Formats: sequence, C-alpha cells, structure tokens
Amino acid sequence: MCGIVGYIGNKSAQFVLLRAMEQLEYRGYDSSGIAVLDDVINVYKGACRVGNLRNSSPRFVGTVGIGHTRWATHGEPSKVNAHPHLDCGGKIALVHNGVVSNYRPLKEKLIAEGHVFLSETDTEVIPHLIEKHYTGNLEQALAETIVQLKGSYAIVAIAEGEHKLVFARQQSPLVIGIGESEILVASDIPPLLEHTNKVIYLEDGEIGVADQNSLKILKNGKETTRAIVPIDWSADQVEKNEFEHFMLKEIYEQPRIINQALEGFFHRTAPVIDAEFMRYKKGKGLLIFACGTSYHAGLIGKYVIEELLDIPVRVELASEVNHRERTIPVANVIAITQSGETADVLTSLSRLKQAGCATLAITNVKGSSVTQLADKVTYTHAGPEFGVAATKTFIAQLMELYRLALLQQDTEENLREQLIVRLSQLPDLVQSVIDNQDQIKACSRYLTRFSNVFFIGRGINYPVALEGALKLKEISYIHAEGYAAGELKHGPFSLLQQDTPVVAIVNRDACYDAMVTNIKEIKSRKAPVIALVQETDTEIPGLVDFTIRIPVTHTLLSPIINTVALQLLAYFAAKFRDCPIDFPRNLAKSVTVE
Ligand code: F6R
Repeated sequence: MCGIVGYIGNKSAQFVLLRAMEQLEYRGYDSSGIAVLDDVINVYKGACRVGNLRNSSPRFVGTVGIGHTRWATHGEPSKVNAHPHLDCGGKIALVHNGVVSNYRPLKEKLIAEGHVFLSETDTEVIPHLIEKHYTGNLEQALAETIVQLKGSYAIVAIAEGEHKLVFARQQSPLVIGIGESEILVASDIPPLLEHTNKVIYLEDGEIGVADQNSLKILKNGKETTRAIVPIDWSADQVEKNEFEHFMLKEIYEQPRIINQALEGFFHRTAPVIDAEFMRYKKGKGLLIFACGTSYHAGLIGKYVIEELLDIPVRVELASEVNHRERTIPVANVIAITQSGETADVLTSLSRLKQAGCATLAITNVKGSSVTQLADKVTYTHAGPEFGVAATKTFIAQLMELYRLALLQQDTEENLREQLIVRLSQLPDLVQSVIDNQDQIKACSRYLTRFSNVFFIGRGINYPVALEGALKLKEISYIHAEGYAAGELKHGPFSLLQQDTPVVAIVNRDACYDAMVTNIKEIKSRKAPVIALVQETDTEIPGLVDFTIRIPVTHTLLSPIINTVALQLLAYFAAKFRDCPIDFPRNLAKSVTVE
C-alpha cells in the first residue's frame, strides 16, 4: 500500500526523492517523509501529502536518501508514525512497505533489551533489530534482521558512515532502476522513468546493495546476477498533461488502448494460453478470482467464456478464496489483478498453486509479484494507471478476456467473425460516448442531490451495474449499490422512493423485456430512473426520467461501452461534489494487506 523509494547518485537526494514520492502517492497519501544521508542522517516527516512536505521541509545536502508515502495500517496517520523510522541512536533509517506480522513479540523482546520505541507501527522493530545486529556493515545486519521477520516487506535502509543503499523484499514489490551514475529503488516503475528505462526486479528473499555506480544482489548470502529489463513505459505517460485528473486522462485513453489491444489480438503469447484453455475443458473447471473492479472484469469474463466456449466458469472474490478451510476443487485458475500486488489475490493464488492448479495471471504490471507466482502470465498493456479508481485497466482486462476466449478453436465461426467485426468498431464507439458526455454530465449533476443510488442490470450487464456503483461510491462518496435487476424486489424495494434514484443499464438482448418490467416496477414506487439505453431504443426513454444514449454493439461487448459511460457518470458527480478524485479518502491503488 505504501510507496517507498531510495536514491543514490550525483543529484540532490531530497529533490529526487520528493519528485519520486509524488509519483508514488497513489499508493498511500496520509503521511510522507524523507531521510537524507550527509555526515548524519537528516529526517523530515509529517502527516501530510508530499506537496506539503516539500513546502515545509528544510534543505538537506546529500546524494543518498530514502522516502515514503504512507497508507496507515498500524497506528493513525501522525508525524511519529510516519516513515522513515530510526534506531535508538538515530544512525540507521529505513522505509518499509508491507506488514511485519510478528512485530508484537519482537517489540516486547527489544523493549526488554532496552530499546525505546516512539511509534505504534509494526515497522519500527526493523531499525531496532538492525541496530542490534549492526557491526559496521548494513547489509549484514539487514540479512540477520530479515530472517526474524514474518509477513511482507520491501525495505530500503541507510546507515550513518556508509555511503550506500541497502534493500530487501518479501511479498512486497521493489524495482531497481539503473541510471547513469545513479541507482534508484522504488515500489513501482513510474518514479524511475525520469531517470532510466532499465530496471531489475528484486525477488523475494534477496538483498540489494547499491552505490552510485554499482549494484550487488545477494541471495542466501551469495552474490547473484540478474538481467536488466527494458521498460516500454515513457515518462510522458506518468504526467496528467492537459487533464485536471489522472482519472479523466485514463478514461480518455480508452479508445487508444482498445485499438492497441486489437492490434495485438492474435499475436501475443496466444499459442501458450490456447493450450492451457484446452486443458481447462478436461479439468474440474475454471475458477477466476480477483478483487474490486478486477473481480467485475472476472464476472464479465464468465459470461464471455461460457457463451463462447461452453466451459463452466466460477468467479470468486480473492478475499473469499484465501481463508477457506478446504481449497476450492478446481483444476485451472485465472487471477486478475491490474497491479499484480493485491495481497488477497497473491495468497489465494499461492494456495491454489500449492493445491496443484494450473495458474494464469492477467496483469498490467511487468515484474509485479503475481508474475513471479503464476505459471503463466498475460499482460493487459494499458500503460501506467494513476487514478486510484481503475478505469483503463478494467477495459484492458476485458479486452484480454475477449482475446483469450476468441482465440480458442471451439468458438463458433460465425459468432467469432461477428464479434471480430464488432470489436474493430469499439474504439470509435467508445470515443463517441466520450464525445457525447454532456448527457452524462447532466445525470451526474442530478445524482449529486441524493445520498443513495442503485445501479441495476441483467445478464452480462449485471457486473457492469456492480462496477458503476463501485465507481460512484469510491470517488464521489455517494452511497451506491449494484444489484441484479431481478433481485430488487427480493428486499431492496423497501428502500425505493422519490429520493432513491436507480441507474438501469438496458441492452437490447434476451434480458430486455425483463428490464422493461423492472423499470416499470421501480417507477410505480416513484423512484427516479436514469437509463443507459442503446441509441436506437424508442421504448425506454418514454418510461424513465433521464436517458443516456449509447451506441449499439454486440451484447457480449456492451460492457465496454456501458462501463465507459458509467465511469464518466461517477467522474462528473465527484467533480461536482469537489471530491479529491485521484486520491479518494482512505483508499490506495495497490492493496498489499489482506
Ligand atoms: C476500484 C479499484 C479497486 C481494485 C482492487 C483490485 O476502482 O481500483 O477495486 O480493482 O483493489 O486491484 P488489482 O486489480 O490491482 O488487484
């Protein structure tokens, strides 16, 4: 959840760290802090965003340092709980992302030995353990420390008198950027891009030691070599450019991302995945699991795969898979995670893998933890996503699911050809939803009058209703619930009245007549209805209060167009309410705790 960074080079460490931390802020933004090594370690931190830290910070000289943006887990956001944390003597400083699950007994023991703790964090045991083992060599002390830690960590540490960065990881991401006379380590790639596009992914259990011009990676105490991987993301992709928010920029990028996905449709890694899918048919079945928006992509994937391939698919929330007493009886599993770091997904995946399942991961981030765990990986190629609310990565996940399903030989030829034609029209259709945003904006403004909203859909647009509700609630703070349209009368009808609007997603498909009936039932309870309808629809507009007209496509592809409209609906509602759209309260982009 937190973002960590370390720098060693020939520039001002303070300058580089603060810039990098701004680019990591989507990982956590309730506190921030830096430590810069000069003759001594200078620390400046607070319960504030990076911008405020920059404005209030004294100037430190020094070309080695570490920085942190926090999403609080242990202890409220406050100056003492903010990272970096120090040992008793203030000679060792470190930043940490992850959770040290055995910190209590370690802390009790350290206190009994005379160590004085200042914060409520789990992290603070680490500098004290390093202090205990320190005999003048930071990497050695870190090696002796990490064997005592349980849980997850990415750590970057510095020590007075040692001009180097020392770092380690276990189930939390850490990427090393190799620049010209400088080395950076960070939780994610974006802050590295202004310096280099050459990276090395540190693996679990490894320790890295960097000075300005050299890097050493140690595995089980022995030096190991690691390939440098070129990154195809550019520094420009991590800027907002003319957009007010990353979320809007990312919504606008979607036609291009769909186009790009179509260009690669029948090439990338296809044969490998193809063979896997054949095995799924003979196995016990296919399980897709994920969290949040990625889970909604999985639900849509179920409809697509069942329809096209006639394979029964089960979709579960990763947080409901990982703690079951018995492992779910399936043979093949797909984990969907844009970040590749979601803790619930990773623990479920490793559990299912241990139980003998064949595992495939769909992710957006090269080198992320899921890529190290899954047997096979396929990428969504959406580029970096900064808005905490997932938009373009969701659409890219859907495109990848269509690709996986359409590549199979069993897909009925006519349907496949029809879908391929319809897919090629998607970039223009999505663009027209974006271009016709005024109709959506008017509905967003209307929704800001209410505290509760229902989103309903049927069939493949039921998960779209879930996604529409999730987007609205997370960024505009208007409470919203996604419901299968047919389920409203089994309880939630009691809530329907004039101040409970319903957003109905209606497609001209097998569910149409049932949706019309549901809308009439809702209108009889006087609840306002906003309907997302195909532009050719003449019946629904006469029944509802507001209509958002959407271009026509094949039902199986309709989630793409409908979701883009709902992303805009949520975006404008949040904007009218003056919400911090890219940094919603209490959230973080990468959820690395269970
Ligand atoms: C909502 C959102 C989250 C993520 C969820 C899973 O807009 O972004 O619900 O979808 O945290 O994240 P990943 O896909 O990284 O596993």
